[in-house]
Parts: sequence; C-alpha cells; structure tokens
Amino acid sequence: MQFDMDETSGLLFVVFLLLAAVTHSEICTDLPEDISSQHVRGSSKPMRHSSSYPKEPFISGTVPPGFLWGTSTAAYQVEGGWNTDGKGESIWDHYAHRSGRTPWGDTATDSYHKYATDVQLGAAMGMTAYRFSISWPRLLPDGTLAGGVNQAGVDYYNKLIDELIAHKMEPLVTMYHWDLPQALQTKYGGWTNESMVDYFNDYATLCYQKFGDRVKRWATFNEPWSFIVPGYGLGVSPPQMHFGMKRRQYEVAHVVIKAHARAWHTYNDTFRAQQGGEVGIVLGAPWGQPRNTSDPRDVQAADNFEQFFLGWFANPIYGNGDYPDAMKQMINGDSTEEPRLPVFTEAEKAYVRGAADFAGLNMYSAYLIYASNHTLPLDFISAVIPDLRGAKDTEDPTWPHGSSSTFVLSYVVPWNIREQLRYFSEKYSHKVPFYITETGISEKEQFPPNMNDTWRQCYYMLYVDEAIRAIKLDGRDVRGFFAWTLMDNIEWGSGHSVRLGLHYTNFSDPNLTRTPRVSAKLYGDIARSGGFPEGAAHSKLTQEWWDWCHTMEPYKGTGTRAGWYPGLYQPP
Ligand SMILES: *[C@@H]1O[C@H](CO)[C@@H](O)[C@H](O)[C@H]1NC(C)=O
Ligand SMILES: *[C@@H]1O[C@H](CO)[C@@H](O)[C@H](O)[C@H]1NC(C)=O
Ligand SMILES: *[C@@H]1O[C@H](CO)[C@@H](O)[C@H](O)[C@H]1NC(C)=O
Ligand SMILES: *[C@@H]1O[C@H](CO)[C@@H](O)[C@H](O)[C@H]1NC(C)=O
Ligand SMILES: *[C@@H]1O[C@H](CO)[C@@H](O)[C@H](O)[C@H]1NC(C)=O
Ligand SMILES: *[C@@H]1O[C@H](CO)[C@@H](O)[C@H](O)[C@H]1NC(C)=O
Ligand SMILES: *[C@@H]1O[C@H](CO)[C@@H](O)[C@H](O)[C@H]1NC(C)=O
Repeated sequence: MQFDMDETSGLLFVVFLLLAAVTHSEICTDLPEDISSQHVRGSSKPMRHSSSYPKEPFISGTVPPGFLWGTSTAAYQVEGGWNTDGKGESIWDHYAHRSGRTPWGDTATDSYHKYATDVQLGAAMGMTAYRFSISWPRLLPDGTLAGGVNQAGVDYYNKLIDELIAHKMEPLVTMYHWDLPQALQTKYGGWTNESMVDYFNDYATLCYQKFGDRVKRWATFNEPWSFIVPGYGLGVSPPQMHFGMKRRQYEVAHVVIKAHARAWHTYNDTFRAQQGGEVGIVLGAPWGQPRNTSDPRDVQAADNFEQFFLGWFANPIYGNGDYPDAMKQMINGDSTEEPRLPVFTEAEKAYVRGAADFAGLNMYSAYLIYASNHTLPLDFISAVIPDLRGAKDTEDPTWPHGSSSTFVLSYVVPWNIREQLRYFSEKYSHKVPFYITETGISEKEQFPPNMNDTWRQCYYMLYVDEAIRAIKLDGRDVRGFFAWTLMDNIEWGSGHSVRLGLHYTNFSDPNLTRTPRVSAKLYGDIARSGGFPEGAAHSKLTQEWWDWCHTMEPYKGTGTRAGWYPGLYQPP
C-alpha cells in the first residue's frame, strides 16, 4: 500500500492540505465538457476518455477457468512477531520504534500466530489464491546468507503455504514488500548500494529453494515507486533518506530494477525447468487521465505522467530495456554534467528487457492531468515528482468519493483498470499476462464499526465488473484479481485508523478477532461464481445497485475520501 506521512514532515503535510483545497476549488469552476467519444493515441477503438464520469453499463459475464480470486496482504502489515523466534529487525520496525507513535506493527494482526485463521477466512470466501509477502529479516535476520538462515522463519512460511494449499488456495508471494532488514540499511546503506543486487539475489534464491516446489508465482518487488520516492526522495518513510530529485534517488531505482532482473534470471536459469513457475513484479499504477482528450497537450502531459510513474519501471522491464524517453529528456536533457537519471549499458538493457513472466498492477484510482507550466496551484506532481514538467494533476469532483473534505486525492474510478491495461498493452512490446494484484477502498476507523460497508460492496461490484469488461471486450489476458485486503491491518504509519479490510479487525480485543463485513460475503459470492453470471443473486443486486454505486451516496460512511491513492493520511 501507499506511503504515509511522518510527523516530522509536517511542512509537506501542510502543503498537501493547502494544495488539496486549492485544486478542489479550481476545478469546480472549470469543469471541462464531456468529450467521451474521442479517439486517442491512434487506438482503433473509440476510447471512453472523458473527464466527466463515464458510467459504463453493468455487464454480466464470468472470467476464464483458472482465474485466481484472492486477497492481498504484506508481512509488516499483518504478521507481528517483529522479534519473535529469531526474526531480525526491519527498517519498518526500526522506524516504528523511533517515530514516537505506537509501533502497531509489533503485533499487527498477529498473523505470525493466526495464519491458520487467515487461511480459513479466505477459504470461507471461496478464494482460490492468496497474495502475501515474505519478511526478508524473518528468513535472514541480518539480510545475508552469511548471517545465517532463521529456521523458525522457514517453518512459518512452510506452514502458511501448506495451509493455503490444503485449502485449495494458490500462493502468490511477494519477496519485497518494503521491510528491508535494518542491518543491510545500517551497514551498507540499503538500496543505495549496488551490492544489494547480490544480497537480494541470495535472498530470492533461498525463497525459490525453500518454497518454489509449491509457490508458482513470485513477485520480486511491490510498488518500487512507493518505497523509493517516499523513502529516498521525500524521506518521509523508512529509511528516511532525503535525496529529493537528486541523482541518488534515481540510483536507488536503478539498483532495484537490476535486482529484479537478476532474481528473474536466476529463476529462469536455475529453477524454472524444475519448478515451472513465473516471476514478475508488482507496480503501482495510478491512471493519468488527460483532462481534455481533444487537447494534444493534455494528452501528452498525461502520457508523461504515465511514463514517470508506471513507465519508470515498466519501460525497462516490459519495453525496450531503458528508461522512458520523457524521463530521459526531462531529467537529463542536454546537460553535459553527470546525468541524474542513470544510464543503462547495452548489456544491462538486454538483461533487464523482458525479465518478467507477468505484470502485477495495483490499480486504485486516477489523476486528472492537464498541461501547464505554472507552479501554482500546488499539486501532487509539483510536490512529489517535480522533475515531471509541463504537467499538473487535479481531480474530477464528479468521480464518486467519500463525504469528508479531507485532502486525500483519490476517487472511485473503476475504468482506470481498463485504461491502464490498454495503455500497458499498447505501449510495451513484452507481452505478458496481468494480475490485478491490489485494489480496494479505505474507511476511517469508526465506533461502533459498521459491518454493512456499502462503499466497499459498490467498489468491488464496479471494479470486478471493469476487470470482466477488460477481458471480454478488450481481450486482455487478466488472470487474477486480488482485493486489498483480507482484514483491517496496520496501515504503515497510520496504524489501524485507516481500514481497508473485507474483514473488520477488533484491535481492542486481545484475540484480534476478525469479523466478515458484508463486502466479504459479496466478494466471496463473486469469486465462487467466477464473476457475475446472469441470474445470480449478486448479479441482480449489482444491477440493482449500479446507478446508486455511481453516486456519492454509498461512500458517505467511509468518513474519508473513498478511494485510496496516494494515501497521504493524517498521522494518528
Ligand atoms: C556497499 O556494500 C558493500 C558490502 O557489500 C560494502 O563493502 C560497501 O562499503 C558498501 N558501500 C557503501 C557506500 O556503504
Ligand atoms: C530463459 O531460460 C531458457 C531455458 O534455459 C533459455 O533458453 C532462455 O534463453 C532464458 N532467457 C533469457 C532471457 O535468458
Ligand atoms: C479541449 O481542447 C480542444 C482542442 O484544443 C479545444 O478546442 C476545446 O475548447 C477544449 N475543451 C475545453 C472544455 O477546454
Ligand atoms: C510549456 O513550455 C514549453 C517550453 O517552453 C512549451 O513547449 C509548452 O507548449 C508549454 N506548455 C503549455 C501548456 O503552455
Ligand atoms: C446494507 O445497506 C444497504 C443500503 O442501506 C441495504 O440496502 C442493505 O440491505 C444492507 N445490507 C445488509 C446486509 O444489511
Ligand atoms: C472488541 O473487543 C472488545 C474486547 O473484547 C469488546 O469489548 C468489543 O465489544 C469488541 N468490539 C466489537 C465491535 O466487536
Ligand atoms: C479469545 O480466544 C480465547 C481462546 O479461543 C477465548 O477463550 C476467549 O473467550 C477469546 N476472547 C475474546 C475476548 O473473544
């Protein structure tokens, strides 16, 4: 999931509050017209580009056989047991213990002990898959093989994997969901150090060796953008290195991309023949929607946004082995100084290009992008990715969202899935199947909790139907849908004040009891029947609720903006 703010970064926090207010008032008086039937970027199909909300009709339909229905979690957010049975400290443990806030991740949802309960929850919903992450310092306490393998950690993941398989759920395993062993950070500077490529490869190799007989789908990294920019650029999340837009931030990404490619090659060369699985990467993919699709400058600005966000990683791995042209031009330009965006050698390009068997995309919401050279109003781009010039972001107030006027810039935009899959398919030459590895909707912690989460029911109705539309109408090879998330967990620095679970977690209860929300039943019904077959009760309900789900009404109870991206929440 997304980054959150640290208390020490109050200034940036205030800036965001300010810019949210400014952009919001600006767009209200400046709403572009509906221009939904435009053709864009040479696509043969009439695209649905429009900055007003393009409500598609509900379509019934089911996914192909073998499609994976799952939920997603991350080790730090659920496991707890932060120093139990020999586990080493991670950069998130380290940060949590120094932030002055409650280190909720120490116990999280205690899935280190309650994994069998979690598997049971998934099984009860009829899930056929589960995406979880392995905690690197639980397997290798100081991050290295030389430091020794923690057998208790190996045992834990063996038990979890076996339990999943016993309940007919396939594991999709993320190897790096942001919890770097603190020792690697302290001793070597973490991802700033090129030797991390070797350390990560040793760790990945260990994962393949220990679990690859049963795990057939591996994701190397989860959302590199989301740990690099906040962790190394802005310095607001661990390891809190503040490089801004300097070369060092871009070097971190360079190392991460090489580490990904190395782990893929190791699998391809050494394990694939015997284990027969797939290795990919999970990328954060917020959609950049041109505000005026008839204006080529807006279209270009939105494309540039895509290149700076998704393309930073997708272009090397799924495209031509190199960084996107827009990044190279805007960051390095004609400067004769040492380029800030590192340069891949030809050999590296060949090594990175095509080093993935699938693309995992986390798709929550969209930004409305327009061309502008003005500094004001402040926006996400100018605050977070100022190297992207000539583009600004805003939001469309007609996109459904929660009732509160908080500053989280995110909206229920189901069609971002179809647009992003189209963009990816048209842009990148390395053709791979897709997994929707995360999508979901947040709510503020509420007392008492409301189990009838209409916002989440609507969200999954709209988003699953959009995935079905991408498969049926556009022919996209989508092979899985993973809801974020199984149960309320520790939302990084925000603790449990922000909740995205299909199950409510009672953090006041020492047992951390999980209770299904109504959305868990709905998502289970969808999964068990492979989508929305005609005549099914949940298909009828979805049809009945369709118009309502496109209004603000169902999202009111979230107590926050209903969507998620980019997840800048007020520190609890
Ligand atoms: C990078 O890591 C290596 C160990 O692999 C270490 O010898 C070296 O000092 C590290 N470089 C920096 C700048 O920390
Ligand atoms: C992947 O492994 C196969 C089988 O060993 C090999 O033929 C192929 O060249 C490898 N691909 C790359 C890009 O190294
Ligand atoms: C969109 O762009 C086109 C082409 O530049 C322009 O003619 C039109 O007026 C713009 N629409 C709006 C609502 O600004
Ligand atoms: C921004 O400036 C560039 C370079 O001067 C120019 O080409 C572009 O048209 C400008 N964009 C807008 C929206 O004015
Ligand atoms: C949840 O609330 C909606 C809207 O008020 C209502 O139609 C529905 O019946 C409720 N569902 C349950 C299970 O109570
Ligand atoms: C949460 O657990 C506490 C302690 O067991 C209990 O008093 C409370 O009623 C529970 N809350 C809910 C909503 O179940
Ligand atoms: C916690 O679990 C134990 C063992 O299952 C049970 O005896 C106890 O009643 C539970 N407590 C709560 C508050 O649910």
